[in-house]
Amino acid sequence: MFSKLFGKKKEEGGLKYGPANPNGYGNWSFLGTDMHSHMIPGIDDGAQTMEDSILLIQRLQAMGYRSAITTPHIKYDHYPNNSFNIQQGLHALQQALHERNINFPIRAAAEYYIDDHFIQLLEAGELMPIVDNQVLVEISFMFEPIRFDDIIFRIQTKGYKPIMAHPERYAYYHGNLDAYRDLRDKGCHLQLNTLSLFGYYGRSVKVAAEQILAAGLYDYCGTDMHHVKHADNLQAMLQSGVMTALQQYPFLNSRLQLA
Ligand SMILES: [Fe+2]
Repeated sequence: MFSKLFGKKKEEGGLKYGPANPNGYGNWSFLGTDMHSHMIPGIDDGAQTMEDSILLIQRLQAMGYRSAITTPHIKYDHYPNNSFNIQQGLHALQQALHERNINFPIRAAAEYYIDDHFIQLLEAGELMPIVDNQVLVEISFMFEPIRFDDIIFRIQTKGYKPIMAHPERYAYYHGNLDAYRDLRDKGCHLQLNTLSLFGYYGRSVKVAAEQILAAGLYDYCGTDMHHVKHADNLQAMLQSGVMTALQQYPFLNSRLQLA
């Protein structure tokens, strides 16, 4: 019975799984730096208090992450953040970490929802990149933005390269691997939400993530951590056979190590 549960390899979405391992497949240190999370307290739907933020960072650190680039939402209708209040929140968080002797380098960028406000910031050249000129963007879960090709082109003519957050979560692309290839061909990086592969966002998102990973189309891996339930699932995921595929994948996170 035990071997039935933990002894079998399986293959899903074209992705090779190892057997589930109740002792865990190590930790998340192979990624080094997390590049998508909501750790600055009280400015979006992520951590609400400084104690929330500290707890989430301690959980990341305990799971092997060595640093993070946190990415509060900038979505004009819901989270009208800007570079000033984000940097202010970051400094308060860094100070709180310092006071608690927690050595965890963290800096801030943003997760931009593509709306008219984003286009204004783009035109003004006021985007906060993850690294170099690479900016994290998300789009509607309901429908692809009108003339999305043009928007991607405009982002690039302004000198930025878009990293599309969690492409596996957009149902209108499901079953269409060519749509993901097309995004990449047009100059987007693609970022996996780690928990998509654990089934956290549902079966169809999991299958899409497996297919994109098996096709080698992802560039980055991010936790998209908002709250402690995400931390609990990231911890539990370390026992899953999908870790064998993740650990072998050449994510670009290794280039993001912060001092
Ligand atoms: Fe996010």
